[in-house]
Amino acid sequence: SKEINILAIESSCDETAAAVVRNGREVRSNIISSQIDLHKLYGGVVPEIASRKHIEKINQVIKEALSEAGTTLDEIDAIGVTYGPGLVGALLVGVAEAKAIAWAKDIPLVGVHHIEGHISANYIEHPDLEPPFVCLVASGGHTHLVCVKEYGKYEILGRTRDDAAGEAYDKVARAIGLGYPGGPKIDRIAKEGNPDAIQFPKAKVNDAEYDFSFSGLKSAVLNYINGCKMKGETFDPADLAASFQKAVVEVLVGNSMRAVEKLGMKKFAIAGGVASNSALREAMEEACEKRGMKFYRPSPIYCTDNAAMIGAAAYYEYLAGTRSGWDLNAVPNLKL
Ligand code: KG4
Ligand code: ZN
Repeated sequence: SKEINILAIESSCDETAAAVVRNGREVRSNIISSQIDLHKLYGGVVPEIASRKHIEKINQVIKEALSEAGTTLDEIDAIGVTYGPGLVGALLVGVAEAKAIAWAKDIPLVGVHHIEGHISANYIEHPDLEPPFVCLVASGGHTHLVCVKEYGKYEILGRTRDDAAGEAYDKVARAIGLGYPGGPKIDRIAKEGNPDAIQFPKAKVNDAEYDFSFSGLKSAVLNYINGCKMKGETFDPADLAASFQKAVVEVLVGNSMRAVEKLGMKKFAIAGGVASNSALREAMEEACEKRGMKFYRPSPIYCTDNAAMIGAAAYYEYLAGTRSGWDLNAVPNLKL
């Protein structure tokens, strides 16, 4: 059968990214221009700055993706692009660019859901992974427990009621002065800390089996820090980071394992920026092994935002016949 090469574009937050992906699984190039150093100055992503940086970078990023893949637009069969959820101004840059290329080259345009992209990152390095499986998507904007029933067919089992897991990491990191983005920094210093040093409440939601809540835990951590300051006491940031991380990981693992057991799933995957967390990867691996389940996780570079994952998702949408019209628009709160 014919090989399908997709040029994928991702611009939903603070990375301008383009990739060329062959048959949904083979990454021929994966270019990411990160704006982190710019947003760091403000302690978080500033939407207008993100949009402006995307429009400045996007042509160059696409050019690099094509040249690193050793190809040209003439050999591209379809354009895949993230059209939501995300920052509206940021999404619009990628969507407009994708539409312009698809129109000029007269090739199909495939709009992709950002979360579907994160999940599909698992296809890149795991040729044996096929639905059905359960995937935990934990990033700066989302914490979803998803059942992937077939390619492109999802059922949301649980979601966060308030903060996303990555958001909690970022807020706690900011409170202990680690800077943005906080996830990788907490991950690093937690390795030196004692996870049992401080008892933080396990974020639990009573009425929905697989839902998450992280704002209570975040507040408990912030209260602890303020309490120390008021009493003139010091605390060990490494112990605090390790104790906070333990509480997050326990909830993510607990809900995920309850879901896969209930559904009788044999395969479990993680995705999103928080999936690059070393403690979470270890704990999930162990939990899956204990249950005789196969565990999948993308390499860290495919966990955080990238376009290769959008190319993987776009391929299966393309095979299923999904084609976006010239009226494709950015949808900031797009549902899966
Ligand atoms: O998937 P992503 O790049 O963007 C969104 O779609 O949100 O995720 C970014 C989030 C940030 O909150 C960041 O702090 C978190 O993922 N993150 C981590 C780690 N690396 C990134 N959280 C914990 N441990 C990490 N190693
Ligand atoms: Zn993301």
